[in-house]
Amino acid sequence: MSSNDAIEAARAASERAYAPYSNFRVGAAIVTGSGDIHVGCNVENASYGLSICAERNAVAKMVADSSGDREIRLVVVYSPNAAPCFPCGACRQVLREFGCREVVVLDESSEPRRYPFEEILPNSFGPEAL
Ligand code: THU
Repeated sequence: MSSNDAIEAARAASERAYAPYSNFRVGAAIVTGSGDIHVGCNVENASYGLSICAERNAVAKMVADSSGDREIRLVVVYSPNAAPCFPCGACRQVLREFGCREVVVLDESSEPRRYPFEEILPNSFGPEAL
């Protein structure tokens, strides 16, 4: 799987977002160590605080789909409402749990912007600390 496939997967997932309250659509695509792609979109709720971000839904999908391939090589995040769209703080920590190495955000007008995960969440807390 190339990162172009993941970019297209994140765009397509954003179209399936359930965001009737904010109308802010987000799609995320995780590429694992083996090259598999798992997507997520944001899913909002009438009880607003129960809404879930696209990135965390993609992590949940990865975990549910595979017991052995859970290393996150990269995550692509896309929103048609605000490009580039960076992962929120909670999602950064959840991506960190699975060793995310790179975050790719899309800007309609230019090349994908790629960030080493250490730049996105420096000096982070992770499973190896426990
Ligand atoms: N959202 C995401 O899904 N991912 C992000 O990185 C930022 C925010 C969602 C949550 C909510 O459904 C909507 O965008 C507005 O905050």
